[in-house]
Amino acid sequence: MTYLITGGAGFIGGNFVHYMASKNAKIVVLDKLTYAGNLETLEPVRDKITFVKADICDRNAIDRIFEEHKPDVVVNFAAESHVDRSIDNPGVFLQTNVIGAQVLMDACRKHAPDGLGIRFHQVGTDEVYGDLPLDRPDLLFTEDTPLHTSSPYSASKAAADLLALAYHRTYKLPVTISRCSNNYGPYHFPEKLIPLMIANALSGKSLPVYGKGENVRDWLYVEDHCKAIDLILERGKIGEVYNIGGHNEMRNIDIVRLILAELGKPESLIAYVADRAGHDLRYAIDPSKIGALGWLPQTPFSVGIKKTVAWYLENRSWWERIVTGEYREYYARMYGER
Ligand code: NAD
Ligand code: DAU
Repeated sequence: MTYLITGGAGFIGGNFVHYMASKNAKIVVLDKLTYAGNLETLEPVRDKITFVKADICDRNAIDRIFEEHKPDVVVNFAAESHVDRSIDNPGVFLQTNVIGAQVLMDACRKHAPDGLGIRFHQVGTDEVYGDLPLDRPDLLFTEDTPLHTSSPYSASKAAADLLALAYHRTYKLPVTISRCSNNYGPYHFPEKLIPLMIANALSGKSLPVYGKGENVRDWLYVEDHCKAIDLILERGKIGEVYNIGGHNEMRNIDIVRLILAELGKPESLIAYVADRAGHDLRYAIDPSKIGALGWLPQTPFSVGIKKTVAWYLENRSWWERIVTGEYREYYARMYGER
């Protein structure tokens, strides 16, 4: 089996490549290496994979890659993934997240040796369901929750999911979709909440908390997400959507305080800043459908957050090299006037 893993130089894709390499799978990683892609993430497995630099929107390049590597399975992690950047500049989100997914699915149809289509897994997000109220802990997102997006990012991800379901129904393309909650762990780009707070605390910078820090996310250790995707590839039903989440709802401010305590840094570093436009209040996943396939999250948050903080302490060069250039400009634009 040859796995084509797009976006494999990013956070979750990179962790998935590590996980599948540990199972000795044959892996081709395809990544455009945008600001979020980093070949250093793949350094520990470089002898076990083939890497191709390409844009998933580039039809000719994708055709050549499918002809050369003949994948049996395509797992699409490639995306613009940061909500704040989508508010700043939505265009590239539509291009990569929607058109890129279409180009990959067209290639899965065109290059299928049996004419039935190459297996395509779309890595989606729980953000497609919009948000839940803070005062209704009984409400959770199921796969039947209506799509109700808030940001250009989540709208683009919802469009890709719908396109994948349309390709399944119309062309019988063998697709599956997973919708996961917030991930954390090693190799997470320090523009997202947890790695940003760790990096800023270690650099003695302020920790920008949006609004009152009361928004809730359902955090899952990234390796548990990788295992869930692998399970869907093995046992998931074609044409189906699977929610993935850890039953681990936490307020942003509590996460930030925990990180400061773990690093022995003072809470005076916290700076409350202007809220994100359209900020979703709460995400919470009902993972019973994937639970029925035999999946359970294995890393409790208390363990995962310690492992994550330790990783950022031990791998300073990985994130310090990123916190330069384009990222500095983005940070100044996003947080400068806030
Ligand atoms: P990331 O931003 O860390 O990585 C994205 C990767 O895609 C990068 O390596 C980047 O270079 C690559 N890429 C971007 N545009 C590309 C293009 N046009 N062609 C080829 N490669 C391109 O993202 P992530 O956090 O690892 O998220 C991966 C996927 O998982 C995304 O689809 C995201 O929507 C989804 N997701 C993320 C989370 C989360 O908490 N981070 C949760 C649920 C779902
Ligand atoms: O739920 C899955 C989604 O989780 C993924 O689809 C996205 O790709 C991923 O980026 C993530 O989206 P969020 O918007 O939830 O993640 P982010 O880390 O950007 O923010 C988490 C929470 O922290 C959110 O309520 C906003 C808040 N926040 C974020 C940043 C960057 C702050 O308070 N301050 C910050 O500086």
